[in-house]
Amino acid sequence: MEKIKVGIVGLGRLGKVHAKNLAENVQGCQLIAACSFVKEELDYAVRELGVEETYQDYEEMVKSPTIDAVFIVSPSGFHCEQIQLAMEHGKHVFSEKPIGLDLAEIKATERVIQSRPEQVFMLGFMRRYDDSYRYAKQLVEDGELGELTLMRCYSIDPSSGMESFVKFAGASDSGGIFMDMSIHDIDLVRWFTEKEVSKVWALGKNAAYPELDKVGELETGAAMMQLENQAMAILVAGRNCHHGYHVETELIGTKGMLRVAAAPEKNLVTIMDEKGVVRACSQDFPERFREAFVNEAKEFIACIKEKRQPQVSAYDGLQSTKIALACKQSFETNELITIEN
Ligand code: NAI
Repeated sequence: MEKIKVGIVGLGRLGKVHAKNLAENVQGCQLIAACSFVKEELDYAVRELGVEETYQDYEEMVKSPTIDAVFIVSPSGFHCEQIQLAMEHGKHVFSEKPIGLDLAEIKATERVIQSRPEQVFMLGFMRRYDDSYRYAKQLVEDGELGELTLMRCYSIDPSSGMESFVKFAGASDSGGIFMDMSIHDIDLVRWFTEKEVSKVWALGKNAAYPELDKVGELETGAAMMQLENQAMAILVAGRNCHHGYHVETELIGTKGMLRVAAAPEKNLVTIMDEKGVVRACSQDFPERFREAFVNEAKEFIACIKEKRQPQVSAYDGLQSTKIALACKQSFETNELITIEN
């Protein structure tokens, strides 16, 4: 079978990870085109990844007849418009999270996606493709934990990434900490419980990095949620983790509980020396979710070849954004927000 020819838009912090995976780690596809505003990034794609077509204008790329599929890794505010353009030009589309920042725009995008069922659409909730989360999901589906009553989720970025984050947040709107970070946990809550969130109350605080105030971002945010069946979720998102990249999830059920990555361990090595007994930590998202990013890209290409849709849909994108926006609103108004489902 012919290789699926992919064009990528965005070659920044995450775009480079996806581009390298598509060029080197995913069989059955060829990374043939790349689009970015930054010329050095395009030069890198040609030189290091063998990309044949480069663009600074996204619409030009999606018009290219050589491209079968598009990977969207541009800033979040562009996703909806770029998904629609690619769909309308007959391409299969993978989009990074969040699907968009505005509910009306997301609903219009969902309609375009639904009107073209023969084209694959996938959203980048890569934790669903992480081995540990998949194992945990299977245990829940097998009833090992009984009925889920509470989830506790931590997603805290490393302090070492602060400088690059301030640059990223200053360059374009990320949607804020609940949209940018907690959205992964929001998706996990919906995925594990198979229930919708009905109420949220969110709080936040900046202490260590006043420069975050200037770009309208939070160092730490917390949200408490009630689901439609009275189950609960507690989410913590942050930008100031000194030991590395801390993503931890706890599920509490009527028959048992489990934790995914209770300590964000790098590997199986334990060092015993004058510092004590030390386990190294994963340091950033490309490291912690390396396999998950490869697995989700493989699934996208497999869906195109096998003419089926992946499990993560535009509707998951809409619902997660709705909940993240409710968190933002709750933080800004200091009120409990009820979500209409
Ligand atoms: P970044 O700011 O590092 O890179 C953005 C890239 O997009 C640059 O190459 C820039 O030239 C390009 N770009 C910007 N506007 C464009 C336009 N209109 N047309 C064409 N190219 C354009 O951003 P980063 O951190 O790589 O994030 C990109 C997306 O990936 C965001 O939506 C973010 O939410 C998501 N992301 C997801 C993660 C995950 O865990 N799944 C982790 C990090 C980011």
